[in-house]
Parts: sequence; structure tokens; C-alpha cells
Amino acid sequence: MPSGESFFITTPIFYVNDVPHIGHAYTEVAADVLARWHRQAGDDTWLLTGTDEHGQKILRTAVANGVEPKQWADKLVDSAWLPLLETIDIANDDFIRTTEPRHEDAVALFLQKLYDDGFIYAGEYEGYYCVGCEEYKQLDELDTPTEGEYAGQLVCRIHSRPVEILKEKNYFFRMSQFTDALLDLYETQPDFVQPESVRNEIVQFVRQGLSDLSISRSSFDWGIKVPWDPSHVVYVWFDALLNYVTAVGYGTDDEQFARRWPAYHLVGKDIARFHAVIWPAMLMAAGLPVPRKVFGHGWLLVGGEKMSKSKLTGIAPQQITDTFGSDAFRYYFLRAITFGQDGSFSWEDLSARYQAELANGFGNLASRVIAMVGRYYDGALPAPAGYTDADLAIQRVVAKAAADADDAIERFAINEAIAAIWTIVDELNGYITEQEPWVLAKDEATRARLGTVLYTASEGLRALATLLAPIMPIATGKLWAALAGEGHGPLAEQGVREAGTWGVLQPGSAVSPLEPLFPRIEDVADTGAA
Ligand code: ME8
Ligand code: MG
Repeated sequence: MPSGESFFITTPIFYVNDVPHIGHAYTEVAADVLARWHRQAGDDTWLLTGTDEHGQKILRTAVANGVEPKQWADKLVDSAWLPLLETIDIANDDFIRTTEPRHEDAVALFLQKLYDDGFIYAGEYEGYYCVGCEEYKQLDELDTPTEGEYAGQLVCRIHSRPVEILKEKNYFFRMSQFTDALLDLYETQPDFVQPESVRNEIVQFVRQGLSDLSISRSSFDWGIKVPWDPSHVVYVWFDALLNYVTAVGYGTDDEQFARRWPAYHLVGKDIARFHAVIWPAMLMAAGLPVPRKVFGHGWLLVGGEKMSKSKLTGIAPQQITDTFGSDAFRYYFLRAITFGQDGSFSWEDLSARYQAELANGFGNLASRVIAMVGRYYDGALPAPAGYTDADLAIQRVVAKAAADADDAIERFAINEAIAAIWTIVDELNGYITEQEPWVLAKDEATRARLGTVLYTASEGLRALATLLAPIMPIATGKLWAALAGEGHGPLAEQGVREAGTWGVLQPGSAVSPLEPLFPRIEDVADTGAA
């Protein structure tokens, strides 16, 4: 992607019925890494996240807690959902709540337009409804357990809770009209839905033909009023999906809307269908461009099942960051799980990778190189003399890693991008073992060679700081301050797409001492931080 283009990326807006767990944090971190990468590449980047506050699920939670739904939402947003962004270091550009006037007004506008243009009609519907999903279900999406609390009842396959039978006079969106247009979209824009597994499922679903969609409710009133019939509120998904356009000026700020839209949507695969079927159909009906892409990532599993609030299997992100820090959190989940597939979290795997890859692999490399520049050159970066094959090999590794990482990020293959960058860590560690700078330092005759080796290693660290900044902003910020604190500009301005170009660091510039980037966890515990 050439620099300067618009890159608008979104996360789902999360239900405020409960506090976040690491599944929500996973989506946030992935979107943030993609956004930081594009921002650092000079693209016109915008990261949107937020909360989904209407509907039956939130209403029931509030009632159960004896407060008004808006009060409940305010409390959860302030005490849990906004603090989550700090906990895992998310640099979002906006945070939208569906109870904000900027959203509610624009939803009414959108709905009225679809109504005026004949895409909405009044009808009646009876069906099985899962409040957890906020969705009508077909029989083949339900299970009938033979034992346990709900034996013999129809339960939702995702939430393992009984569905309810709902019969309502509703307004309907003529979604069935868009079956062919959607199939055409999947055909002509093959990467519209990714990964392939999710795309196949969506195409198969739409090929069966779409029904019209019930888009209003009259049995409760916690929602946005239907503009021409205030006895109905807008179906929570119809309301929620619109956040992606209402947050960037749909109906109010044409300039901003034209600048940002269309978006890349990052979601969990549980809600890929809403984003890849209902949402583009809504946009087509309104005559607006469809999203650039819908990427449905995999699930974090606990005991082989999706970690979830409703099943009480959620782990709070802070449980991890309190001990390991936000950088390690961000690195771990994006490195250990193939992006797009399911993955299981384990404390053992996290600890092992922290120690081997972050502390011993990357952190130790940075400490050693910077300490040697301090010790042998009094903290002034030496100039390289003639490059040997071993040095040139490092330059090639850096160039290839930078190009491969950018290519992988373009495909949302975040784990591949990190693996590509990590070739620099591994090659540099091998290089230092082979070149033995501590031996070169003993003899004045090998002084020039020592300078080349330490310059080469420092340039490798420079590339690592640049390329890893979107993933681990804190550690790379410290590394950059030590390595390039003078005369090289801020880390945020080191273009990721130019990171493979050799020779950025200026010989003679100051290199200052670096504390361990990833302290031993026992040490963390000792200081009482755990
Ligand atoms: O669905 N593994 O909100 P929600 C990975 N409000 N990701 C997970 C996860 C897990 N175990 N559990 C949750 C909603 N997620 C709607 C969205 S958008 C217009 C409206 C993440 O609070 C993942 O991104 O149920 C999933 O899609 C999302 O949280 C669902 O969050
Ligand atoms: Mg959910």
C-alpha cells in the first residue's frame, strides 16, 4: 500500500452487560497493531472502537441490578471499558457509544431514508430468539441437550442458554433483495471476507437465499425510536452496525465521511455474518460504499470452548498485565495464535515465551549491544569500516524482514509479520555469538572491526525498534530513547516501510544505558508489582 492512503479500521462495539475479558482485549490489540503500523507508515489512519448499549441484554442486566439502563452503561463504560484501553495501551482515535446523540440522530436519518426509499415495510414475525446473541435463530442453529440444567430445551449453540419464542409486529428490511448483489460482491472482491474459512461459511449461508430482516421491537423501549413510529425501537444490531458510519460523520460531516469511509472491520468470527451479510446489504440499500474488508478472527478458548462472559470463563486482561506488562500481553496473543484461527491461552505458554523470546531473545540482545557501545566507545556510536559477508547478511535479513512484515500486515497476517521481524532477533543473536565483539575489544588491531560489528548490531536494533513499535510501544520507546535519543527524531516518525533501508543511525551519536526491557518475573513479584 503506498503511503498516505486512508486506513480506517474498526473493532466491534462491545456490549456493556459485563466487564471485558481477554477475548475483547485480543480484538482491540490486533486492531491497534494494524492501526499503529499504518500510522507509522504515514497512512491517513483512524482507529474506532466503542460500546453497544441498547437492546434486551443490556436492559435485563440493568433491571437485574436495579438501575436504569443508561446508568448501568455509564458505570460500565467508565469503570471497565475505557480503562481497558489504558490497560492494554490502545491508541484509538475515537470511542463511540450508541447512546450518544451523534449516533442516535444519524441512525434515525439512515432508517428514514431506507423507509422513504421503500426498503422497509411492516410485517409480523414469530421465531426463536437468543438474547445473548440478540438474534432470531433457525432450528438448525439450536441444540437440545439431553442432560444438565436445560435438558430437553432448545438452547443457543453459542451461549448454551435456552432461546425464547418471540412473536411481534415488526418493521422489516428487504434484505432478501440483496442476495445476488452480495454473492456478486464475494465473487468480485474475493478478500472482502477473510479468512477463507469464514468466507466459505458466509458464501454458503447467502447461497441458500436471504430472508427479510426484522429491524424493530415493540415489546420493550430501550433503544433508538423508529422515526415514523415511536412505539417501536430499532433492533440493536441494526443500530450497532451503523456506528461505523455515524462515528465518521454520516449525515452530518460529508467531508470527514468521504475521507474515512469505507472501513476495514476487524471482528470475532462469531459476528462475521452480521458484518459480511446484513451490513453490506444495509449500505447497498442506502447507496453507500460497502466496507473494504471484514476479517473474522478466531476465538480464545477455555477448555475447548469460546471464552465468554455468559459462561463465566472470562479472564480479566489486568490479571495478565499486572504481572507481565501490556507489551508482553500484546506480543503474546498476536505471536502465539495464527491470526484467523482459534487459540488457547495458558499461563505456562505465556511465561515460557516471555522468558525465551522477550527477556532472553530480544531484551537481552538490546541490553548487551547497548552496554558494549557504552563500555567500548564511551556511549558514542562507532562508525562502520568495511563490511564483510557476515555484516551484509545482516543487512539482507533486515531488508527482507521489513518487506515481509509489511506484506503480512497488508494481509492481516499479524503473527506472520512478527515472525518475519523476529528473524532479525535470531540472526543478530547468532551474529554476536560468532563475531565475539568482547574478543575484538581486547586488541587495538581489531578496533575498526569492533566498530563495524557494533554499528551493524545497533542498526539491527534500530530496525527492531521501528518494526516492533506498533506491537510493543513501551519497550521499543525505551530502546529508542537509549539507542537514538539524539538527532534521529521520534520513533513514531521512523517509517515502517523504510525500516529495511540500512544506515539510519549516525555514527558518533549518543547511546545511553538501557534498563532490562523485560525484567525477570520473579523480580517483578519481588517489587510487589504482581
Ligand atoms: O457481539 N475470543 O459484542 P460482544 C476472541 N455488541 N474474541 C472474543 C471472544 C473470545 N473468546 N469473546 C469476545 C457484540 N470476543 C456486539 C458487536 S458490532 C457492530 C456489535 C470479541 O461484547 C470478538 O471481537 O459480545 C467478538 O466478536 C466480540 O468480542 C463480541 O463482543
Ligand atoms: Mg457476545
